[in-house]
Amino acid sequence: MPESLWYKNAVFYEVYVRAFFDSDGDGNGDLNGLTQKLDYLQSLGVDCLWLLPIYPSPLKDDGYDISDYTGIHPDYGTLADFKNLLEAAHARHIRLIMDLVLNHSSDQHPWFQAARSDRNSPFRDYYVWSDSDKKYDQARIIFVDTEKSNWTWDEAAGQYFWHRFYSSQPDLNFDNPAVRAEFLRIMRFWLDLGVDGFRVDAVPYLFEREDTNCENLPETHAFLKEIRRYVDKNYPGRILLCEANQWPEDVRTYLGDGDEFQLAFHFPLMPRIFMGLRRADSVPIEWALTHTPSIPENCQWCTFLRNHDELTLEMVTEEERQWMWEQYAPEARMRLNLGIRRRLAPLLDNDPRKIGLAFSLLFTLPGSPIIYYGDEIGMGDDLQLPDRNGVRTPLQWDAGLNAGFSSARSIYSPVIGVAPYDPERVNVETSRSTNGSLWSRIQAMIAIRKSHPALCCGDLAWLDCGLPAVAAYLRRGSREHMLMVHNLSAVPQMIDCVLPEDFHGKIVDLLTSQAMGKTQGRLLLSIQPYEYRWLSIA
Ligand code: GLC
Repeated sequence: MPESLWYKNAVFYEVYVRAFFDSDGDGNGDLNGLTQKLDYLQSLGVDCLWLLPIYPSPLKDDGYDISDYTGIHPDYGTLADFKNLLEAAHARHIRLIMDLVLNHSSDQHPWFQAARSDRNSPFRDYYVWSDSDKKYDQARIIFVDTEKSNWTWDEAAGQYFWHRFYSSQPDLNFDNPAVRAEFLRIMRFWLDLGVDGFRVDAVPYLFEREDTNCENLPETHAFLKEIRRYVDKNYPGRILLCEANQWPEDVRTYLGDGDEFQLAFHFPLMPRIFMGLRRADSVPIEWALTHTPSIPENCQWCTFLRNHDELTLEMVTEEERQWMWEQYAPEARMRLNLGIRRRLAPLLDNDPRKIGLAFSLLFTLPGSPIIYYGDEIGMGDDLQLPDRNGVRTPLQWDAGLNAGFSSARSIYSPVIGVAPYDPERVNVETSRSTNGSLWSRIQAMIAIRKSHPALCCGDLAWLDCGLPAVAAYLRRGSREHMLMVHNLSAVPQMIDCVLPEDFHGKIVDLLTSQAMGKTQGRLLLSIQPYEYRWLSIA
């Protein structure tokens, strides 16, 4: 695969810098802390870091409310620290992408301050104003637990302003060419420093049009294509990753003809992995993939299990959502907006078999996988913290003070203190040095994935074994075929099924390196509860 397509087979790692490692003892993780821990990420096999927003911000939405797009939040360090991080990452062949928040700024941004205080300011038209709060009333509210309307009255401005998220995040007006030009300038700033691209936040909502739901509009696509042309022309090989929490056919449009985003999160697949596991039924997972449209050759899905937000249930039916809530968020405090504010390990009952299985699906289904920091050691969550903060607690490095995260007396968030997720039991040091730990299994899976390109880019076909609890699929590569088998249930399964013609040959179990004889045209395998097997057939 040409180097310019590196993202098609990359393992991404999502970093919340504040939670990662505190290098200066002020209680907040920082850029220098991340730099110091790059060896850790390299040893796990990470190819690309995605940093949550690190810009100056009043932190009403943890940095997704930006008050200066080309600065660094003082908690995180300086631009010099950032350059140093980038250089150190690149020296280890780790790439780095940043969050680019186009849709809205903070209300503390000088643009908004100027806009609200003077109708004649050139910045007035940077935002979306109205005398009435009835415009665009077909647009849904996203943060349903907090916001009652997408319009908020601004006393200073004497008008309502439009916002799809918190009212502290006024939407920018992309009909204004000056706003579009600002973002090309902002992108240039970071790309010139050498960043490898952007995870572009909340892309469906850039434009507003009456009588539409104000999502996925043609104008939005046109602007995104313009951004892509700009990046390709001036910074070839850098990437744009799309955050559009939408149905497959709508997300697909963000890849265009290979001329919009290179990558898009696969939102519909994620909840169905959890559904499949809890129902011991491969149908939801298969459904998500058979409803995934094909994508251009130069594009790739980004698959994930969890991230810094609630586990979103926007891409399931109403009935499925209720079922997911009952199963995975039985207590009201576990729910947030249309989702579940819990981490991977607690969702999967802290059962190492289920967690391993979920990662195995992540690493063997099509797409470039993203690991959310801390999930590689099975960290827990803190439901006492508000909003999404419970899944943003300090990374647990060891069993020492503040879990080895910081030497400060007081830190930005409590460390998870309660068994079984406390640092005594869950920490990087122990997980890394223990054979068979979650960390070691993930590291091994990543290494195997990298040496078997069929797992990245091979075709996917489901193998029907007549066993609903078994997710078995074939990945056909140019040199090697792979057969992935997952038992989604708590009971052993006996698999006996016919293999396609081109799957005849010697079987090797890649996770144990054991030769298993020849297929003879059939797969005969007994598989333990929640076990997964990666078989190479050649
Ligand atoms: C994205 C982010 C989320 C943020 C929102 C508004 O969905 O993932 O954390 O709150 O955009 O910027």
